[in-house]
Amino acid sequence: MNFKTIIEPFRIKSVESIHMSTEAERIQYLEAAHYNPFLLNSNQVIIDFLTDSGTSAMSNEQWAAMMRGDESYAGAQSWERFYNAVFDLTSYPYILPTHQGRAAERILYGHLGGKGKVFISNTHFDTTRANIEFSGAVAFDIPIEESKNHENYYPFKGNLDCEKLEKLITEHKAENIGAVILTVTNNSGGGQPVSMQNAKDVAEVCKRHNVLFIIDCCRIAENSYFIKHREAGFEDKTYKEIVQQMFGLADGCVMSAKKDALVNMGGFLALKDEKLAEACTNLLIITEGFTTYGGLSGRDMEAIAVGLVEILDKDYLYYRIKSTEYLGEKIREKGVPVMYPIGGHAVYIDSAKLYDHIPLDEYPGQALVCELYRVGGIRCVEVGSVMFGKYDEQGKLIPAAMELVRLAIPRRVYTQSHVDYVVEVFDEILKNKSETRGYKITKEPKLLRHFTAHFEKI
Ligand code: F0G
Repeated sequence: MNFKTIIEPFRIKSVESIHMSTEAERIQYLEAAHYNPFLLNSNQVIIDFLTDSGTSAMSNEQWAAMMRGDESYAGAQSWERFYNAVFDLTSYPYILPTHQGRAAERILYGHLGGKGKVFISNTHFDTTRANIEFSGAVAFDIPIEESKNHENYYPFKGNLDCEKLEKLITEHKAENIGAVILTVTNNSGGGQPVSMQNAKDVAEVCKRHNVLFIIDCCRIAENSYFIKHREAGFEDKTYKEIVQQMFGLADGCVMSAKKDALVNMGGFLALKDEKLAEACTNLLIITEGFTTYGGLSGRDMEAIAVGLVEILDKDYLYYRIKSTEYLGEKIREKGVPVMYPIGGHAVYIDSAKLYDHIPLDEYPGQALVCELYRVGGIRCVEVGSVMFGKYDEQGKLIPAAMELVRLAIPRRVYTQSHVDYVVEVFDEILKNKSETRGYKITKEPKLLRHFTAHFEKI
């Protein structure tokens, strides 16, 4: 039998209550937060879709493993278990534990970067780009052309354009390329997957030019689901085999364990090359900690070791990808413009299309973010001109390329009835569509304004 209902492949043993606020309360909360959901308290939120990072529910096995945490400064047993779990998937011998993904990025790209260096990716995640640019290097995003069409189906919109890669390497000279970074899945590109063929092609180009190939692997388990179900030749492979094969193509990886290792904090850097690992290890010891714990406590390493096994469970991955798709497809059926096909960890809405009556300098994405909170207590993030907009010399907004709103789904946290509730909230969003107004910014910091900016309703 093929049942339609996606059931969570777990039972719930410990619950966290949600304060069921009223709309009147939320209107007040939102005003007090200056219409910026980042300034809300979490207990004012019913469904928190701000991020899938560090928001996973850990399993009973992970909690049990934490009790085994060996907090010895050097050579802890927890380090051994963590090392074996990462090595089992990557086969990279040099593994550096860090407190989260960006710490691994800072170490690796700080070392490889510097003035005159060039990095190339399908899309650099914000912290990746920031670490590269902070070193003085430049970062180029070259997703495939198909990724720019958000309406048609294409199985691997996360792929990197290998023709452009070849050109960029020739133009900037191989010795100036810091690394080629394949982000799987491509978070900034809508959580779209990367095919194994694309990873093979990237590896081939990098090998031929003797350029370092790094995988930003924080959602590689979700990516493996798409490969198994969309790419010919992988139907009979396990998710683990797919993940191992992809790691086998690269020279190393950077991981934020806050995603596909099902933990609330942690990360690592893993490398094949001894000399590069040695240089990075020196930076690890100075900035994170000794080699066998880096930025992590023993119990964190235990939880990651268990999480890296649980994430590849076939029933978990089915539930994970299908429930994200369920949300995306349901609101799409109602006429909400979403990035299509639905990615692995989030649903992205094109707010400029939804609110085509709101000018871009009145931030349609912020309008949707505020509406979702007012109507349903749903918190999510604008990924548009609030986040990426700049001003010209006259102070006029130079808008971002797109006005997206991201509903990022925490792992193992919400049930299908929570998702059905969110779908229902969109009925109200669509009903109020033409009356919804934009916002103006009344206060903003110089950098990363989306976190702390204040807004006023127009
Ligand atoms: N790479 C990717 C693809 C990411 O999505 C993130 C974080 C990082 C690196 C950095 O890892 O947060 O552990 O330092 N993404 C989060 C998000 C913040 O909400 O998408 P970190």
